[in-house]
Amino acid sequence: MTAKTENSDGAKNDEDIFASGNPFELFREWLALAGEKEPNDPNAMALATADEDGLPDVRMVLLKGFDEAGFVFYTNLESDKGRELAANAKAALCFHWKSLRRQVRVRGQVERVSDAEADAYFATRAKDSQIGAWASRQSRPLESRFALEKEVAKYAAKYALKEVDRPPHWSGFRIVPERIEFWRDRPFRLHDRLVFLREGAQGHWRTERLFP
Ligand SMILES: Cc1cc2nc3c(=O)[nH]c(=O)nc-3n(C[C@H](O)[C@H](O)[C@H](O)COP(=O)(O)O)c2cc1C
Repeated sequence: MTAKTENSDGAKNDEDIFASGNPFELFREWLALAGEKEPNDPNAMALATADEDGLPDVRMVLLKGFDEAGFVFYTNLESDKGRELAANAKAALCFHWKSLRRQVRVRGQVERVSDAEADAYFATRAKDSQIGAWASRQSRPLESRFALEKEVAKYAAKYALKEVDRPPHWSGFRIVPERIEFWRDRPFRLHDRLVFLREGAQGHWRTERLFP
């Protein structure tokens, strides 16, 4: 039996992650652990895109769903990221859970979620957030806070007595992973790295262990 010692994240320093054959199951475990340990937003992830010239861009978004089909977030389609993904439907994600000293990286093609899926998620949002989705012309110049509040008031009045429908410019994207890497802190920077790889969305996952 392998000797086990406590890691800085409270997990066992054994080979468990390398025995895993399913990246989504492993991700589910790590996200659940992050949910217990992180002070806020354990589902926050850096989303990297690139524009038409190949210049990278990165910002935080919230993971709102994941399964074997991919990792989903929601946004304004006319924002910088929305336009970049329309021009170049590829992205990378990076989760870093400081409290766990762990990182997960994802790369893949990007597709829009269905209108039904976006409608269903939009319906779960607080009404003020739904109104915000109408009021914000995300990533475009804003002359003042007052100008934003005016837009919010306009849509709050419009939807005062009815349900807020999803704006046509607001939806979700799914990153369909071709590569998912799990990184775990180990002493003296001799970290664990496990990468899952597949050719295309229907391919079989294979794993590789990487030098730190
Ligand atoms: C923790 C965190 C979570 C965020 N989640 C989202 C999100 O889910 N969707 C979104 O559109 N923006 C989100 N934002 C704001 C984005 O980081 C960004 O400012 C905004 O989407 C505009 O990005 P863009 O100009 O590159 O399109 C979040 C910011 C932070 C710090």
